[in-house]
Amino acid sequence: MITPPSGAGEQQGGMGAALLSDPDRIERILRTLVKGVSKPVTCKIRILPSLEDTIRLVQRIERTGVAAIAVHGRRKEERPQHPVHCDVIKAVAEAVSIPVIANGGSQDCIKVHSDIEAFRAATGASSVMLARAAMWNPSIFRRDGPLPLEQVIGEYIRYELSATNHTFNTKYCLCKRLKEKLESPPGKKLHSAQSHREICEAFDSVVYYKKTTTMLEARSAAEARRHHTDDQFEDTDVTTMTVRFDKQVQETSVLQRDYPPQITPKMFLLEWSQSEQLPQPVYETVIQRPLDRFFRSTVTAANKKYRSTTWDKSKKLAEQSAAVVGLRTLGLPEGRMGEEESNLVKKRKREEKTECSGSAESAEESGHAPIGDCLALYSIYSTEGTASWMS
Ligand SMILES: Cc1cc2nc3c(=O)[nH]c(=O)nc-3n(C[C@H](O)[C@H](O)[C@H](O)COP(=O)(O)O)c2cc1C
Repeated sequence: MITPPSGAGEQQGGMGAALLSDPDRIERILRTLVKGVSKPVTCKIRILPSLEDTIRLVQRIERTGVAAIAVHGRRKEERPQHPVHCDVIKAVAEAVSIPVIANGGSQDCIKVHSDIEAFRAATGASSVMLARAAMWNPSIFRRDGPLPLEQVIGEYIRYELSATNHTFNTKYCLCKRLKEKLESPPGKKLHSAQSHREICEAFDSVVYYKKTTTMLEARSAAEARRHHTDDQFEDTDVTTMTVRFDKQVQETSVLQRDYPPQITPKMFLLEWSQSEQLPQPVYETVIQRPLDRFFRSTVTAANKKYRSTTWDKSKKLAEQSAAVVGLRTLGLPEGRMGEEESNLVKKRKREEKTECSGSAESAEESGHAPIGDCLALYSIYSTEGTASWMS
């Protein structure tokens, strides 16, 4: 829109009606929008001091490719109470072939629904835009005639409460709606109201206020419960912890992973299970959260279940997070960088001395993956979830 809310003179920052004196910029803005936006672009202006300039401007605006133009039939310096120039809007409508939306008739032209069409006809426009008339009484759009103000205010309060509208926005709209009735007892109460409750008190709507706030509180409590349940699995035999395998730590502006690329917690859990002659860990119940389609996994190791409370973006990461929970609960190393060397690492280093000096075949034959300098070989054997490389 290229007009300000009211008939103020110079606009701050070159915005609003100030743009009217810079048609080159208007054109640049509109061409950029038309080119860059897939939706139809419309434009709203106030009229210029001369009819010729106004027509020249709207024709230039039309050439930018906008879908329609709204014309507030007042000049930049005219106030909302000044009469609207229906004749200028009409001349504009005749000068362009895109739809023209007539605006500015709330005060002097539009009192009831049928006046909207009369305003459209008087301006030769395609349609009408209403601001203040709708703010004063939204039932202006009712074909059967406007509703009593008390009823409109009552319904408005219900909507704004349910929609948790900002208190002072509600107060502003109600003040505009009351107009000359602002000096009435409800008007005075509204004037001093600082909360939704006080606004409701002004209009004898406290019962509704209580009912609505109770309903809203119940709704948010149910929502909180739903989230909580979402995070709690029904089974109670699962040990949970809030950990994430894929966590990256910021270190001197370089993003570093917690784990070296070839080392994973799943490997450590598998190696431990085998060394203890326990069944291979089983990863199960991979759940996909409907909200973002993230995953959470449960691992069974040594007949106990482990799971992270966090959600991961892939099944693989979710399984690694579950393995971390298992390892930490069991007090086992998990392969993180900077972690004290585990028995597994020490063992591998010992083996490395002998196996790396031998051949890859001997490593394969022994079923042991070498570590350290032999990480490339290690990764060949690291088929997670299988025991192919471990003793
Ligand atoms: C509360 C309020 C906010 C407005 N905000 C804007 C706005 O953001 N941009 C704009 O171009 N016009 C704005 N206007 C002006 C209206 O769009 C309209 O041009 C003006 O009120 C004349 O129309 P009316 O006689 O139907 O009220 C606002 C008007 C009101 C009352």
